[in-house]
Amino acid sequence: MKDFIDLRSDTVTKPTPPMRKAMAEAEVGDDVFGEDPTVNALQEKVAQLLGKETAIFVPSGTMANQLAIKSHTQPGDEVIIEATSHPYNFEGGAGAALSGVQFYCLKGLRGILDASQIEEAIRSEDHHFPVTRLICLENTHNRGGGSIYPIEKIAEIYRLAKSKGLLIHLDGARLWNASVATGIKPHEYAQWADSVSVCLSKGLGAPIGSIVAGSKTFIDRVHRFRKMFGGGMRQVGIIAAAGIYALDHHIERLGEDHQNAKHLALGLKELKGVSIDPDQVETNIIIFNIADTGMTAFQMTEAMKKKGVLIHPIGKTQIRLVTHLDASSEDIEKALKAFEKVLSRK
Ligand SMILES: Cc1ncc(COP(=O)(O)O)c(C=O)c1O
Repeated sequence: MKDFIDLRSDTVTKPTPPMRKAMAEAEVGDDVFGEDPTVNALQEKVAQLLGKETAIFVPSGTMANQLAIKSHTQPGDEVIIEATSHPYNFEGGAGAALSGVQFYCLKGLRGILDASQIEEAIRSEDHHFPVTRLICLENTHNRGGGSIYPIEKIAEIYRLAKSKGLLIHLDGARLWNASVATGIKPHEYAQWADSVSVCLSKGLGAPIGSIVAGSKTFIDRVHRFRKMFGGGMRQVGIIAAAGIYALDHHIERLGEDHQNAKHLALGLKELKGVSIDPDQVETNIIIFNIADTGMTAFQMTEAMKKKGVLIHPIGKTQIRLVTHLDASSEDIEKALKAFEKVLSRK
């Protein structure tokens, strides 16, 4: 994939030479015994960034979300979630398989829910009904096109949740992007959730790794289930070092990815048959429709591949592009030129 400009996802980023050096030099120990100093340092760092009592390192964003769901619920409980969210759609049905929960899906506006919608979905006490236990939110929202949850909306949902005795898990795989785009600190967002998961492998260059943060009692449950799910790792400081490096060096630069995404969206808007609203591009994800080109998203993907650009079809005529550490502004210009060759200007 070396010669391709890869805009399929921000998960394609590779560790930089200084990140690899930090990994090679990391002090390690057996993390299942809690003895890996680099993992411990990463966990403390993220707990602090999120303003939570403690945090735990896990292999993936999927495991992070599913451990949170498992730790917050009992089989048969209901989880209120947005219909296009990651935990519901892209985690292999894990909520049902591993936690025995059922999801109550609500359609959001580009993934964003209102407290009033959630309020209507909360079950009243009746033996016929499942028990509503948890609300899952996603910030930024992947299939919402990298949309940012307005903080006042999350605060309102949190207040509602507390008034009804419910818990909130925030899938913050790209919370860093929301924070850089708005200037609102990660802990300011995280204060409105009982648990938060964040990723180190999306746009930040780290090869692997996510973190779940919350109260000590909650993380203790997550720890037990991490073992059960097979997520206990050993000398994993070698990877945690990449996470620490990513947090220290690759967060602020996410702003460049956001600028590149906006530039890409504005360029795409000038092309024949492309439906896109650049105002909706708030972070590093761009979703657009090519129905009016007469091409399918699959055909477009093949045509762009021939021009050296990898893109991600997410529907019959819908395409997703994601900007990241390994896509420079020159790459974005080249990608736009390639789109122009395939589609031509209006
Ligand atoms: C919003 C969101 N949550 C969770 C995940 C899952 O992360 P992972 O691929 O590390 O399992 C992703 C992956 O892209 C995501 O976009």
